[in-house]
Amino acid sequence: MINLKNAAQIEKMRAAGRLLYEVEQQVRASVRPGVTTADLDVLAEQLIRKGGAIPSEKGYDGYPCSICASVNDEVVHGIPSDKRVLREGDIITVDCTLKLDGWQADSAFTVGVGAISPEAKKLIVVTEQSFWQGIRQCVVGKRLGDVGHAIASHVRSHGYEPIRDYTGHGIGREMHEDPSVFNYGDPGRGLRLRKGMTIAVEPMICQGDWHIQNDPDGWTVRTRDGKLCAHYEHTIAINEEGYPDILTLPDFSWEHTPLNADGFPRVSYLAEDGEEQA
Ligand code: MF3
Ligand code: CO
Ligand code: CO
Repeated sequence: MINLKNAAQIEKMRAAGRLLYEVEQQVRASVRPGVTTADLDVLAEQLIRKGGAIPSEKGYDGYPCSICASVNDEVVHGIPSDKRVLREGDIITVDCTLKLDGWQADSAFTVGVGAISPEAKKLIVVTEQSFWQGIRQCVVGKRLGDVGHAIASHVRSHGYEPIRDYTGHGIGREMHEDPSVFNYGDPGRGLRLRKGMTIAVEPMICQGDWHIQNDPDGWTVRTRDGKLCAHYEHTIAINEEGYPDILTLPDFSWEHTPLNADGFPRVSYLAEDGEEQA
């Protein structure tokens, strides 16, 4: 069942989204060689609670932490650990969900630790680009298949593949609501997008073979071939005009945020103007 949200409910989710953005900006700024993934988890939990919110991941199906911290070939659900020391050249995905005043926000980003290889940087950039290709389809009248198709065709044009086993999702009072938002699909197929839909769009993109394997810890998921995976997630709401508001990217606006040379909004890695495309 799809829970459509009214304007007042979307404003509550926007408040949650703004707090999550601020938390994640601080976590991102703390990523550097020598930091452990447990350090990032502690920081995130402190900031979430200081903001009057609850870390939704903690205790979700027994998950022990406030963020998922997935390094290099880890796809999702890496458990923060004081033994996992970040090293120059690693890439790390931080995926965090919080609940403020009863409403959820969910967002993830991948960032390099110090200097990273051109291959790793390109994977992160193309993953973020694919989010924007998907989001451009998140307008009333389009269907979820259009969103998934836009994501998959963009990453495939660079030789990458979307992970199949995990998807985006509806979000609201619960972290995971209907519908599932696949990162591949057939244009013109699937659920029609409507005003008041709130969904997490989250391409998880790997360098080639999308098959995954599970660690014995019961949580960590990694690529079977050991190659890198990147992830980029925002919580969005289809607004009254039928266009997507990005609730976890409060400073972004379709009218005012400038585009880079490749035509993507200058946010996150895409602010570096597509120089790696040259
Ligand atoms: N934030 C994740 C998502 O994007 C879910 C986290 S799973 C948990 O859907 F177990 F860590 F909570
Ligand atoms: Co998430
Ligand atoms: Co999500």
